[in-house]
Amino acid sequence: MKTCSFQLSAYEIIVFLSCLLVKPDIIHGRHCRSSIDALSPTAVKIEPIETSRLSFDSLSAELLDGATLSFEFKTTSESGLLFYTTRRNDLYDVVSVVLINGYLQYKIRCKTSYADLIVPGVLVNDGEWHTLVFARKHNKAFIKLDNKMHFHQYYVTCGGFTSVGFGGISPDHDGGSTSIDELKVQPAHFSGCIRNVNISTGIDAPPHYVTVSDCH
Ligand SMILES: *[C@@H]1O[C@H](CO)[C@@H](O)[C@H](O)[C@H]1NC(C)=O
Repeated sequence: MKTCSFQLSAYEIIVFLSCLLVKPDIIHGRHCRSSIDALSPTAVKIEPIETSRLSFDSLSAELLDGATLSFEFKTTSESGLLFYTTRRNDLYDVVSVVLINGYLQYKIRCKTSYADLIVPGVLVNDGEWHTLVFARKHNKAFIKLDNKMHFHQYYVTCGGFTSVGFGGISPDHDGGSTSIDELKVQPAHFSGCIRNVNISTGIDAPPHYVTVSDCH
């Protein structure tokens, strides 16, 4: 059985209960009753609620040289945090991809490398599935969107990442660094579906789901 933890405000409980009426297989209580699994082709829906998110809080090894993260996403959101990866005890080091006006922005915050790079020409908030790959090699890294390489081998000098989050910031990281604060500049919370998450380091703990539902 998968376990999930919830910390819900009264407002979220109301939203959650109304979801239950229309989506009876949504996760509820303290346990997942549904088949939600972000590592599988069964997609997880991140809701347009501030706390809604999915995270991998403990990777089996640091996401460093040679490591790859890939996943598929589908959204109609104009903006929001798609994913970020950071280091335990060193929250300055962050690599993220955010949505801005329907375009992806690749943000690198390492002590000796810094960039904000918009992926040009592809509006990704078209409600279709897209594949994103982030891979590190030596002091560099690349992102691939739908199999097309962008910003070939850009400098990413951060130490090894220890967690990966989708849709929102973990309360453990909130306020922890200027790099984390910058993930919040988006006017809206990401809303959309995530599936087939593949982290080459492996994971030590099951995915952590907060206020998510099945994606239909
Ligand atoms: C996960 O990604 C690796 C490459 O990083 C690939 O070799 C492997 O086949 C992928 N696994 C799945 C289940 O897609």
